[in-house]
Amino acid sequence: MSMTKIPENVQGAVQLDSWLEPYADVLSERRYLADKWSYDIRHSTPDGSEQSLVDFARNSYKSYGLHANPKTKEIYYKEWAPNAQRAFLMGDFNNWQESHEMNAKDEFGNFTITLPPLENGDFAIPHDSKIKVMFILPDGSKIYRLPAWITRATQPDKETAKQFGPTYEGRFWNPQTSYQFKNSRPKFNLANDSLKIYEAHIGISSPEPKVASYKEFTQNVLPRIKHLGYDAIQLMAIMEHAYYASFGYQVTNFFAISSRFGTPEELKELIDTAHGMGILVLLDVIHSHASKNSEDGLNMFDGSDHQYFHGLTSGRGEHPLWDSRLFNYGAFEVQRFLLANLAFYIDVYQFDGFRFDGVTSMLYLHHGVGAGGAFSGDYNEYLSRERSAVDHEALAYLMLANDLVHDLIPDSAVTIAEDVSGYPTLCLPRSAGGGGFDYRLAMALPDMWIKLLKTKSDDEWDMGHIVHTLINRRHGEKVVAYCESHDQALVGDKTLAFWLMDAAMYTDMTVLKEPPLVIDRGIALHKMIRLLTHSLGGEAYLNFEGNEFGHPEWLDFPRAGNNDSYHYARRQFNLVDDDLLRYKFLNEFDSAMQNCESKHQWLNTPQAYVSLKNESDKVIVFERNGHLFIFNFHPTQSFTDYRVGIDVAGTYKICLNTDREEFGGHNRIDESQCFYTTDMPWNNRKNFLQVYIPSRTAIVLTREI
Ligand SMILES: *[C@@H]1O[C@H](CO)[C@@H](O)[C@H](O)[C@H]1NC(C)=O
Ligand SMILES: *[C@@H]1O[C@H](CO)[C@@H](O)[C@H](O)[C@H]1NC(C)=O
Ligand SMILES: *[C@@H]1O[C@H](CO)[C@@H](O)[C@H](O)[C@H]1NC(C)=O
Ligand SMILES: *[C@@H]1O[C@H](CO)[C@@H](O)[C@H](O)[C@H]1NC(C)=O
Repeated sequence: MSMTKIPENVQGAVQLDSWLEPYADVLSERRYLADKWSYDIRHSTPDGSEQSLVDFARNSYKSYGLHANPKTKEIYYKEWAPNAQRAFLMGDFNNWQESHEMNAKDEFGNFTITLPPLENGDFAIPHDSKIKVMFILPDGSKIYRLPAWITRATQPDKETAKQFGPTYEGRFWNPQTSYQFKNSRPKFNLANDSLKIYEAHIGISSPEPKVASYKEFTQNVLPRIKHLGYDAIQLMAIMEHAYYASFGYQVTNFFAISSRFGTPEELKELIDTAHGMGILVLLDVIHSHASKNSEDGLNMFDGSDHQYFHGLTSGRGEHPLWDSRLFNYGAFEVQRFLLANLAFYIDVYQFDGFRFDGVTSMLYLHHGVGAGGAFSGDYNEYLSRERSAVDHEALAYLMLANDLVHDLIPDSAVTIAEDVSGYPTLCLPRSAGGGGFDYRLAMALPDMWIKLLKTKSDDEWDMGHIVHTLINRRHGEKVVAYCESHDQALVGDKTLAFWLMDAAMYTDMTVLKEPPLVIDRGIALHKMIRLLTHSLGGEAYLNFEGNEFGHPEWLDFPRAGNNDSYHYARRQFNLVDDDLLRYKFLNEFDSAMQNCESKHQWLNTPQAYVSLKNESDKVIVFERNGHLFIFNFHPTQSFTDYRVGIDVAGTYKICLNTDREEFGGHNRIDESQCFYTTDMPWNNRKNFLQVYIPSRTAIVLTREI
């Protein structure tokens, strides 16, 4: 292919995928917008001197909002609210009087105020006391808001809530001693390190019907994750959200962390403790939309409908399904707010990266909803000038966000796109003309498993289709494979374990009697589905907390519709700790699988070579990074001396075996034996070896010599 006609700024992408060539100009324009914005931001200093993107983001979160100077004991507050005429800071500290008017707004719409220390030398606003900002609008009316950059907001007490409703209260967080981090970030090399992610929600992380805390998570759940062998934790529902049942997706205060679970210092301790265990911590960041709340959220913040969001009459200001507001990514102050938000979580809380929520909704003007949301893979759906409906501004924002995160943590940042559309180049480096994400979620995989379990009997499972779905991904763009995330656990759906075993889980998980067929099958397939997804489906792996031990039932948050019940808003770790139940087997298998991968490495290695998909035997065989994976999905047939191809000659041994008794299996496989290759081509491989592979088991072989 001749590269001469390809714009230089996307040549890397076109070199990787020549089918992009007809769309090179479109890709180039899209990249150009992000690069131009980056230039504008870097030259936005008052004197035009150049600053880095990092400095821009850092200086922004350090100047907007409330800031206590420990040396001078002054408090400085800055707020951008161009539609307001006057602004007043009020709170417990001034008995909610209009005594602290902010300086007249500047030409850009910023209000500022500096509060000198009290006569006794203390800060003028006590730590953790309540505050608000009041704006007087052009029509003379007064509106009360939580500062847009506030770092703590709390639920009102019961009495206040009864009288005034559940509106969150802003607080001035300024502890005398803030948490001091002891551990540095774990190393992570995108080129060759594996990434095994444990997705978690703090509030549901206990078996009790209550909201669990950061402290409990640190004490009780981190050691579990360490034992399981995961490399990273992905925390959802951290950004403050007044409505618990939104699962954290209707964010009200972008710089505040959810106060339901504890204090900012306690979250810092959690992250620091994870780092001490060598575990990265990623934030599920919601920049795709925002809660419609105005009194305790960003909506109508300065009285106008178009400050942070597209105006309501533009047709772009609201999400068609989510009942939420949509950011105007093209606006400079919105870019500032969101980029500063990322820098804040990385600097202040030491997060190691982000899972960007709702990327498909951001990328397209149709938000992935309706007819436009059905993607067939035709490049025109993403890249045609006329047909693609891509929101160039949102894409450019995501590119800038990726620049910033990787500049902030050059050696170990992780960014993941929640994109179901499969937008080509999204996970290529920015330098190649890509979106700059490190990974995307393999959102087709959980759908495949659920569909299979719902609609096919075991003898109808199509090995070719399963393999195709697992390996069907873009060359050069990494994906996070998973069987189920929080999405599949939500009410209305069922966990994989529940699809497999259903109500028998209530009565038949005991080890005190032989398991009925449904449990035996469920336990066997649950392990095989996880291992196959893990080893064939991507360059990283994700598990949603609880599913490692086959969590039964679903998730449902307390809300009016379920009488505010916490019954389904918890994870039943008691099940795995109960020695008389079979959940511990699934859990120990997960630990063995993660630790085996850590030792032998297959995730972040080139795609597997699949040498066999046998529909009648229901056997799948492949090699990845030199390891040999053999799966027998046949419901009844076990195979003796089953011949499988293998490229590299040598002596092989079993390193993982789903049939071990400690994993709830039947111990039919002798793990002490060695497998010697025979120098004769088989299934397009140079050698073969023969194994005993019982019905519904999988083994992994590694080369000894
Ligand atoms: C107000 O905002 C503008 C534009 O974002 C910025 O250039 C200016 O320095 C800000 N003013 C203050 C006092 O920070
Ligand atoms: C991963 O890559 C880095 C840099 O490219 C290299 O130094 C390191 O040895 C590699 N590690 C492995 C396990 O291949
Ligand atoms: C909620 O409580 C009411 C009254 O006790 C009861 O009739 C109703 O069935 C309950 N609903 C649910 C979803 O539990
Ligand atoms: C699948 O296995 C059966 C029985 O062992 C064999 O006859 C058939 O040739 C195999 N098919 C493939 C594609 O290897």
